[in-house]
Amino acid sequence: MHMATIVSFASRLAILCVLVLGVSVFPGRAAQDLQRELVPGLDLWTQQRKPAPYWDSKEAMPDLLSRAARHREFIEAGVPVEYRSLTSPYPAATKVIDDGRTLYTSHCATCHGPKGLGDGIAGRDLTPSPALLAHMIQRRQSVDEYLLWTISEGGARFGTEMPAYKEILTEKEIWQIVTYMRAGFPVAGETKQD
Ligand code: HEC
Repeated sequence: MHMATIVSFASRLAILCVLVLGVSVFPGRAAQDLQRELVPGLDLWTQQRKPAPYWDSKEAMPDLLSRAARHREFIEAGVPVEYRSLTSPYPAATKVIDDGRTLYTSHCATCHGPKGLGDGIAGRDLTPSPALLAHMIQRRQSVDEYLLWTISEGGARFGTEMPAYKEILTEKEIWQIVTYMRAGFPVAGETKQD
């Protein structure tokens, strides 16, 4: 046998091995991909609510239910009238973001973590745990009125430990925190715009 033939045979054998192994190691792969394609651009906040068969309140963990209660009320009833249509007066200017960071650091980071990843020390033993603000701020439901309502009224209504800030911070201060969160929790000096 020529060297070239041996090499070519060996490489074909290698490809065959990869294919066979690949299929047997990840047998469910194709099915999963197909499922993903059936719901292009799936967004749980906009799609018609169709609970999966296993989504039964008796099955769900209690912390998941109380976390979901606020989201559900917002989707079904909107925010209370006093918060309706209120929007932030602030542009994403460095000064506003800096003020927002200072406020966030002293009032929120202890539970929600310095970068909004839900990993603050005071939040460790809470059920439900503090929200991942860095993530939720990018979701569609995080419109201004939703954030103002949530931060002002806290979680008493839903049985969670999220404090109410309407007596502690002014509405303007809450908007500054919102501006800082929307800017992506930048560290001091990271913001360019003015
Ligand atoms: C004592 C801990 C604690 C502190 C301090 C705290 N939070 Fe929370 N926060 C929570 C917990 C727990 C939740 C999850 C339960 C809920 O949604 O009510 C939450 C939820 C939230 C949500 C709702 C997230 C969602 O999924 O809709 C927002 C927004 C929020 N916090 C913002 C803030 C801001 C801004 C501050 C500071 C002004 C702050 N929190 C301070 C504990 C805290």
